[in-house]
Amino acid sequence: MSPAVLAPLGKPDKVQELVSKCLQARDMAYCPYSRFPVGAAILTADGAIISGCNVENASYGLTVCAERTAIQRAVVEGHTQFTAIAVTCDIKDRFVGPCGACRQVLMEFGSDWTVYLTKPDGSYKKTSLNELLPLAFSPADLMKN
Ligand code: THU
Repeated sequence: MSPAVLAPLGKPDKVQELVSKCLQARDMAYCPYSRFPVGAAILTADGAIISGCNVENASYGLTVCAERTAIQRAVVEGHTQFTAIAVTCDIKDRFVGPCGACRQVLMEFGSDWTVYLTKPDGSYKKTSLNELLPLAFSPADLMKN
């Protein structure tokens, strides 16, 4: 079977998988307060996919975003090298980006990430962490002269 048939709409298989994993993760969101489910899926350098959802708390400030849940899981699983993340929520009419705090947390693991902002129907806008967080503070900035 040709790759075109394996990847309908011209989307590479791995991106399709990443997008579908972030949609599945959104369905697991624990968000009784905001009722705003978010899903994320991270593609590691060695091809694994680790997902996360937002986990809220009655003490609202303790809420953890989907992207950060995914990062924490990935690190526990031994991954610190990442190439892409897909993020989704329930908003259908526009592409929604990760919050500023999550952008910074992603930056900890490099600026060279591809970010797929994903709508509930699986369509996505491809961007990058560099684009989402220009002039970022990063681990390299802690190096003293
Ligand atoms: N949320 C995320 O999970 N990721 C983001 O990037 C933005 C916001 C969650 C936190 C909270 O549970 C809900 O969305 C509403 O802010």
